Amino acid sequence: MTSRIGRIYSGASPDAVRRDLQPLLDFQAGGLPLAEVSRLIDAHLLPHLMQYDRAGFQSMYNRIPEAGAALGAQVALAHNQGVTNWQVSPGGAMLEEVCCERLCHLFGLSGDADATFMYSGTYANQEALYLALHKRAELEGFNLGERGIAGFRNPNRLAILTSPDAHFSIDQSVRMLGLGEQSLIPADVDAHRRIDPAALRRTLDELNTTRDVVCIIATAGTTSTGSIDPIGPLVDIAHQHDAWLHVDGAYGLSFGLVPELRPRFDGIADADSITWDPHKQLGVPIPNSVLFLNRKEDFGRMALHSDYFNRESSSEPNPGLKSPPSTRPMSALALATSLLHQGLDDVADALRSPLDAITQLWEHLLDQDDFEPWHTPETGVLCFQHQPDHVADEDRNELQTFIYESILREGRRSISITRLEDAMVLRVLVMSSTTTLADLLDTVADIRAFGRSFPTEARPRKDDT
Ligand SMILES: Cc1ncc(COP(=O)(O)O)c(C=O)c1O
Repeated sequence: MTSRIGRIYSGASPDAVRRDLQPLLDFQAGGLPLAEVSRLIDAHLLPHLMQYDRAGFQSMYNRIPEAGAALGAQVALAHNQGVTNWQVSPGGAMLEEVCCERLCHLFGLSGDADATFMYSGTYANQEALYLALHKRAELEGFNLGERGIAGFRNPNRLAILTSPDAHFSIDQSVRMLGLGEQSLIPADVDAHRRIDPAALRRTLDELNTTRDVVCIIATAGTTSTGSIDPIGPLVDIAHQHDAWLHVDGAYGLSFGLVPELRPRFDGIADADSITWDPHKQLGVPIPNSVLFLNRKEDFGRMALHSDYFNRESSSEPNPGLKSPPSTRPMSALALATSLLHQGLDDVADALRSPLDAITQLWEHLLDQDDFEPWHTPETGVLCFQHQPDHVADEDRNELQTFIYESILREGRRSISITRLEDAMVLRVLVMSSTTTLADLLDTVADIRAFGRSFPTEARPRKDDT
């Protein structure tokens, strides 16, 4: 290909990477000097790591941490605090509590809101769904923690409504909570892949006699298209039906830190729970996820005490009572140092930049006869199809897959592919404020070039016998 950029990882095959890593796992009775261990890492691991700071990385929610975040992460590493409670880390426990208060304020949540740091957005979503079930159990007059889902009059009726584009961690959550995927009901979406409130009301009316809708999940920044569901109207609908409203803002909530984008998150202060992953768009070191609750007392449903640890009689701050893990990292520090070092104005600027780049790409593609954007971009993601004349309509899905696989194999850039209804679409994501329209146009040029090498002649047609 003509691309002006180099590889963004070694490009080696899985077998070759496995072979190359062997010296790092050759444990012997005697140890190696650190300099030698370091040399092995440089030679055998680093070439195979993805370079997130390269312009060609346009596929996933990963970033290299900025300097403030890196500083906080180094301190957290050096002191390896287990931030469960005051007894294990007084400063760590208080830092997390105060940081959570500050974050609630930053996102305009109510004075009664609270938050906890989590290992990942997946677990934050799972805990939110668990708390939604708890609330429903209380309405039915029993304690979910004690009786489990068997306490519901008819557990098979329990239902959760969300977008077909919701992240698969929701599927994972209903599996792990014992509800099963049968509990998930897809909500209709509009042309821009946002949940359609009017259609949602109709669906709820239809389900009225057959299902108990426990929770409606809005996504603020869907994984596939970055779309932001209309949070305010969904909150109203959920609460009219005694359902919990969870916002999965794992990726998109960061954009709520940009003043002019706040109206897109209207209603968020009334959501019952919100997931946020600073380890995505903000690039804070992994793991760094946050679960917000609108009413801090709802965290009480998570609290488990023991005689030796987190004793019921202790009155000091114990952030570990708000989520399952007993050993927890000092995640709050890297997020705090990152916001402190950059300042909120620079954070907002850095968030505007991916939006600008992806909007410019969208405008460009609208003018191209051989590309079709699939939605208006709301965050840093754009899905589109390449539709050159020489490829028949019925081969379009295969063409996108062919292009995606060709780009992946070449190793100079990384984009992604997804399915929206029946269509396979290419997906480009901008995370870094250094990625420009020119970088995205390079990707478009590569897509065109690979599209030209799509083997149309030899393809068996449907009507061939
Ligand atoms: C919208 C959304 N929710 C949840 C998740 C899962 O978050 P994590 O990867 O932190 O488990 C993702 C991951 O991409 C996501 O995009």
